[in-house]
This record gives sequence, C-alpha cells and structure tokens, in this order.
Amino acid sequence: MPETRLFHDVVRSRRSARSFLPDPVSDALLRAVLDDARYAPSNSNVQPWVVHIASGATRDKLSQAMLAAAAEERFTPDFPFNYDDLYGVYRQRQQAQGAAYFQAAGIARDAAEQRRFAIMRNLEFFGAPSVALLFMAPVYETVRVAGDVGMYGQTFLLSLAAHGLAGVPQTLLSLFAGTAREVLGVDPALKMLFGISFGYREPGNPVNTFALDKAPISETVTFHR
Ligand SMILES: Cc1cc2nc3c(=O)[nH]c(=O)nc-3n(C[C@H](O)[C@H](O)[C@H](O)COP(=O)(O)O)c2cc1C
Repeated sequence: MPETRLFHDVVRSRRSARSFLPDPVSDALLRAVLDDARYAPSNSNVQPWVVHIASGATRDKLSQAMLAAAAEERFTPDFPFNYDDLYGVYRQRQQAQGAAYFQAAGIARDAAEQRRFAIMRNLEFFGAPSVALLFMAPVYETVRVAGDVGMYGQTFLLSLAAHGLAGVPQTLLSLFAGTAREVLGVDPALKMLFGISFGYREPGNPVNTFALDKAPISETVTFHR
C-alpha cells in the first residue's frame, strides 16, 4: 500500500538535525506544519500546548539571551533534569548517543569541552532559522500534560519531515525557561517542556547522518497472550 510506505519512510527520515542551512522557512510551509501538529491527540482533547515560535531578529535575541544566561550559569528550568539520574541500559544508550554525536562533530572526548560545545550549539539553535518553544498549560497533573505536549512535538517533527524540513527537540533550551519567558513575554504560569529548532537540514554534515541504534522490539515490548 503506497500510503503505508510513505508513512514508514517519513517516520524513518525524521532524524534530529544538528546543523541547518540559514534559509528561512516560508510562512506557508510553517502554517502547513502547524496545521498538521494541531491534530495531535491529548487527554480529553484538552490540547494543553502553548507554542511560541521565534524567527528573524527575535530568534537572534533569544539565542543571545540564552547564551548570556549560560555564561553566567543562570539556569531557570521549570522541571529538574540531570544525566546523573540515568543508569543501566538507559545510561548506555545516552552515552552511545553522546559519543556518536561528538565523534560526528569532530569534538575531542574531554567531558568539559563536550559540555561547553553542546550547550553553545543548542543555544545557537544549531544554526536553524526558527525555534518553537513548547509550553504546558497549567491544567491538572503535569505528567499528563507533558505526555500531551510530547504528542504535539512528535506530530510537529513528523510533519517537518514530511515537508522536507528537519528539527531537533531540545530539553536543553528548557534549562533557560525563565530567560525565554522574559524575552518573549510569556505568561509565568506556562511551564516550558522543550524547544524544537527547525529549518532545512544541512546536507552532507556528519552530525545529521551518524548511525544511531534503536532498541529492538524485544527490548521494550512484552507480549501477553
Ligand atoms: C524531549 C526530547 C529532548 C531532547 N533534547 C535534546 C537536546 O537538548 N539537545 C539535543 O541535541 N538533542 C536533544 N534531543 C534529541 C535526542 O538526542 C534524539 O531524539 C535521540 O538521540 C534519537 O535520535 P533521533 O531523534 O535522530 O532519532 C531530545 C529529544 C527529545 C525527544
């Protein structure tokens, strides 16, 4: 069935991009992506996502403000995030991903240098012309809302892929949630879950194409019959 093939290809072609061309995304294309994303499912159809998109001069201002906050170690996350919490197979997968990315980027294995490089590139939105910040509406229990916003994020990312665009979800941007709210004038009641830098993937850059293992079905699914 051609439709199934198309879906299969779109799902697999959606890879996180970490080097973008500077070319802006046209308003028409962005509208088409946003029009797909609004069909994401949510608990009781509450749709508790609030999305702020920065492009052009505002994108640059946001990046500069986040870089300045990082330089002063002014972290303002709404939710805790710590790699040290990882263990076992989760730790292994995170380390494998980090090693593959830094090797593709040609960065030495020294941890401090890697960390600095990672923070800086994230806060430069990896050169993407636009970034979408995903905030959670202050309704009921946050884990449920985060699940809904995740659904929205993946629908947004798949639509980017279907339209020949690319994106990267970024928890790292949410470490500067307070800074983002300040720059964009966002209601403090809205908590930031993650951002998505997006645009046109730079072709041929190894950071966009390195191999990444995806756990086989047998590792993550138990069948009960
Ligand atoms: C919620 C979420 C947050 C993420 N945060 C970051 C981030 O801050 N920086 C980054 O470079 N990648 C980030 N990623 C991308 C993951 O590293 C990536 O999805 C994973 O390695 C699998 O690769 P793939 O997206 O190419 O399939 C994030 C992914 C998700 C789903």
